[in-house]
Amino acid sequence: MRRYVFGHPIETEAVLEKPPVTTDVMTELQVGASEEFPLTFSMEMDEDDIVYGLGENVRGINKRGWLYTSHNSDDPNHDEGKHSLYASHNFLLISGKKHLGLFFDTPGEVLFDVGYQHYNQLVISLPEGDVEVYTMEADSDLEVIRQFRHLIGKSYRAPKWAFGYGQCRWSYMTSDEVREVVQTHRKMGIPLDMLYLDIDYLDAYKDFTTNPKTFGDFDALVSDMQKEHIHLVPIIDAGVKMEDGYDFYEEGKRKGYFCKDENGEDFVVGVWPGDCCLPDMLNDEARAWFGDGYKFLLDKGIDGFWNDMNEPALFYSRKHLAEVFEQVGSFAEGNLDIQRFFEFKDMMTQISNNEEDYKSFYHNYKGQKIRHDKVHNLYGYYMTRSASEAFARLVPNREVLMFSRSSYIGMHRYAGIWQGDNKSWWSHLLMNLKMMPSLNMCGFLYTGADLGGFGDQTTEDLMIRWLSLGIFTPLMRNHSAMGTRMQEVYRFDAVEKMKGIIQLRYRLIPYLYQAYEKAINEDTMMFYPLGMVYPTDAIARRVEDQLLVGDDVMIAPIYEQNAVGRVVYLPEEMTLLRFRGAELVEQTPLPAGHHYVEMPLGDVCMFLRDGHQLQLARIVDSVADLDWDNLTFV
Ligand code: GLC
Repeated sequence: MRRYVFGHPIETEAVLEKPPVTTDVMTELQVGASEEFPLTFSMEMDEDDIVYGLGENVRGINKRGWLYTSHNSDDPNHDEGKHSLYASHNFLLISGKKHLGLFFDTPGEVLFDVGYQHYNQLVISLPEGDVEVYTMEADSDLEVIRQFRHLIGKSYRAPKWAFGYGQCRWSYMTSDEVREVVQTHRKMGIPLDMLYLDIDYLDAYKDFTTNPKTFGDFDALVSDMQKEHIHLVPIIDAGVKMEDGYDFYEEGKRKGYFCKDENGEDFVVGVWPGDCCLPDMLNDEARAWFGDGYKFLLDKGIDGFWNDMNEPALFYSRKHLAEVFEQVGSFAEGNLDIQRFFEFKDMMTQISNNEEDYKSFYHNYKGQKIRHDKVHNLYGYYMTRSASEAFARLVPNREVLMFSRSSYIGMHRYAGIWQGDNKSWWSHLLMNLKMMPSLNMCGFLYTGADLGGFGDQTTEDLMIRWLSLGIFTPLMRNHSAMGTRMQEVYRFDAVEKMKGIIQLRYRLIPYLYQAYEKAINEDTMMFYPLGMVYPTDAIARRVEDQLLVGDDVMIAPIYEQNAVGRVVYLPEEMTLLRFRGAELVEQTPLPAGHHYVEMPLGDVCMFLRDGHQLQLARIVDSVADLDWDNLTFV
């Protein structure tokens, strides 16, 4: 492991115990500069090298052939043309004759050209010349990962119940609706452990409140749910509503805990409630204050949270909006020719998450005034850390579930993440699968995607197929956006099939949880690309749509509409385990090689490695009832 320092990097706290700085000239990468960038790193790759990493991002498990940018972005309409998603995870692993790990630790933007301009060239460019670079070489990919993970510290450990099934919707509008959703699951025998509360449980979208009209019985709701073994998991948003008389806002304002504009005034942005201020999560005192806000819900018995809009997502800033309002009238007159029309349109579409806005407010970070864009990628990390540190202070004996939308490496010690606003698209099901190992490498083990898809209209078969993948991911949550088809599994004709798949999840929890704990304890992964486990198998190294889950089983999900089976590659002899719903109905040993395996809707196939075993629990309605000692072994 080597650590190089370039310029004057801003501390991120991704790494807590740093190795000494290497003063030798860097040999792993060529250091340079270009017209556009004051600092670049490059290397020639072999034709056969695979480049793993970059955590939450678009495209393949092998990242070659595209450009990626570290810039935490709120983008519910992302597709494979994008370069950034909600998080920045600047770790790469070049796997070929050598095994080289690279970590670029900087809170600002980083551009990764992974064989995009030139297939054999890796070029990393920094708009600012400040970064700490860690390099790791070892005899295997997994050893590089172990070293990297050791460097960044142990991953967050979620409670066991967080491996149950969760139901979410933007939004369940009243406590009665929440009760009804839970009761329907219970009545129909569909297992459930978590019911998520989206923004409408809040009073006018104000953090750390509850809506007195629609959730007037919040305390009773929490305790009634607890009796049913249901954990309510409320959302917390980064922006704090500006409203006189709202205690939390007034306190933040009085104490100077919000991000400031260049004149030292609170910077005003728009999120759900309209005008908001952004807590300065990077300021130690403000961070402790924001974390203390969670006490309101902890005191009510809440033990799970999801942190949102923490890229931070900005609908608008008051400053920029004033400019827009000033100019917009001028477009009402005269002809809107191509130029004028697009000027008008761009003005409108660039109101949200505007880059100029990110350059218009400041943090007080470690006693220094720092412009937001220089530390942009840390905001979600520090918001989530504020909560985690508060839990340790306020409820040291409570196991708390928490995951965030935005993140940076380092945050993996405090919480999990979900994969952001996806769509009910088959391509996003596949993306969910591909992201799992990339995230694991970067320390994010408790993770999963919105099952069924968040935006757009899901279909019954997509829901079934996505659940069939989701039963393996630590976070297993069905979530959908306002205005889309209702997505609770009991809304579909095929509810019995879906129920069977969810029951299978519960049968798998002991296996999954031990794989998860092992990945934490041993700084390894829960989801492996085949190439990492069978490094000498040239075919396995190229497989992009199958994964090993834990040490014992391989999965090969269906991700295409109307498919009734698929080709599966077995790097070694394996036993096909076919589950019809929760029941194991077939065990067929198959030789190594390619096989076409039928997978009708409702069948879940797993492939058990030769000489390995899989433990299965009995079907239960919630993790609290799970019998961890009486397991069946296959
Ligand atoms: C964001 C979140 C999504 C949530 C919505 C409303 O888009 O990513 O999960 O449902 O906000 O709170």
